[in-house]
Amino acid sequence: MKIKIAPSLLACNFLHLAAEIEKCNQSNVELIHIDVMDGHFVPNITIGAMFVSAIKQITNIPIDCHLMISHPDRYLLDFINAGADMISVHAETTPHLHRTINFIKQHNVKAGVALNPLTSLNFIYDAAEFVDFILLMSVNPGFGGQSFMPLVYDKISDLKKNLINAGSNAFIQVDGGVEPTNAAALLRAGADVLVSGSAFFKFPPYSERLKTFQAAADSLNAWVGCPGSRQEVSK
Ligand code: DX5
Ligand code: ZN
Repeated sequence: MKIKIAPSLLACNFLHLAAEIEKCNQSNVELIHIDVMDGHFVPNITIGAMFVSAIKQITNIPIDCHLMISHPDRYLLDFINAGADMISVHAETTPHLHRTINFIKQHNVKAGVALNPLTSLNFIYDAAEFVDFILLMSVNPGFGGQSFMPLVYDKISDLKKNLINAGSNAFIQVDGGVEPTNAAALLRAGADVLVSGSAFFKFPPYSERLKTFQAAADSLNAWVGCPGSRQEVSK
């Protein structure tokens, strides 16, 4: 199975940003994930649309903007104009999800809805038919380098079943604490795109790192279970 990794720039060397992007350009990176944090919805402040617009000038890799911000509607157009190819907003931040999703899609940008680890899937099932993707957080949003929360395995498989039953084409992105050691289990549970920050940028060369992730995906045939999932616990 082909694995799709979206490196999270949060973990790259900001002092050499252009060089880091160029290494991604040279390494068959398929998607660049940008974490936008406002110090309000999450306890950290990062970067905004100006950063996206600068990066867009030096790469053709699609840019995936993960907005961890309150009142995302106020800033959508900034990110669209900056060249975002995908935008996800947190379901916890917007009371008018349908309107928000429609606005993003009307501008030919892929729209996603993100959920914190303990936000119920019930919160977004109705949105599934309208979104292009659903981002399940596997850490509490706000920082890179945190430990993966195994509870997300069951959420992924529950969501996948629901999407299949509903005939939805939305894909599932998983974000936080992703590394080669849990990649196969995440794919097996039903994830389609894996965001990886620390476990990607701290391990150059990046083309080799992608191969390490792919090797993990190739080990799916020998898969033994998702550690911490319901199935695994009930064994
Ligand atoms: C967390 C961010 C993630 C994070 C991933 O709030 O949304 O994208 O940067 O970084 P790692 O892979 O280090 O957990
Ligand atoms: Zn993210």
